[in-house]
Amino acid sequence: MNLAEIDRSAWAELETAAIDPQSGFRFVNLCSVDGSGRPQARMVVLRRADAAKRTLEIHTDIRSRKWLEIAKKSAATVLGFSAVSRTQLRLQGIARLHAPGSPIAAEAWDKLSPWTRSTYAGGPPGDATDGETAAPANPDDDADGKRFFGVVIFTAESLDWFELRRADNRRAVFDYDPAGALTGARWVNP
Ligand SMILES: Cc1cc2nc3c(=O)[nH]c(=O)nc-3n(C[C@H](O)[C@H](O)[C@H](O)COP(=O)(O)O)c2cc1C
Repeated sequence: MNLAEIDRSAWAELETAAIDPQSGFRFVNLCSVDGSGRPQARMVVLRRADAAKRTLEIHTDIRSRKWLEIAKKSAATVLGFSAVSRTQLRLQGIARLHAPGSPIAAEAWDKLSPWTRSTYAGGPPGDATDGETAAPANPDDDADGKRFFGVVIFTAESLDWFELRRADNRRAVFDYDPAGALTGARWVNP
């Protein structure tokens, strides 16, 4: 594969992951920076990928730390590894928040299953509990969570692609302009 083909196949894998729960990049690491400048990482489900715009969609609770961190500092990294293709994707870019009531959050909410909706109806993420198993979510109560449901749209500015091979690992770096066009591609030492 040449550089352009690698870029296309990486984004095709991301698009597939958003549709196929068994896919390699279904779960990715979303990394933000907190108020003290410390990196913060957590796994998230990749809900949608758009190869043309270089965007990734993630759903979360607006009471979560990640939401508050991104609201203050939009620089973010998305890190993924697929054991299937043995590739690491390290995407750097900007995360934008779409709060409850915004068209993007409303549209995403409408497509969620009642069970998924009900997961947003509990107490604030990270607040202390007694450690007992919470009562199972009740899908009939799903409307409650809508006011806490937010969408993060991450726009990649660069991709650091790394392929793990037995003897000769390969690595390449790609740059994108704000509209998503590929503006640079180069091989680098792994
Ligand atoms: C496989 C996996 C997938 C997850 N997906 C999401 C997700 O899509 N959105 C989300 O907000 N949290 C998700 N979580 C929980 C986060 O990793 C994290 O624990 C939680 O959101 C609180 O993070 P924060 O305090 O940094 O905001 C997931 C956890 C795991 C293990």
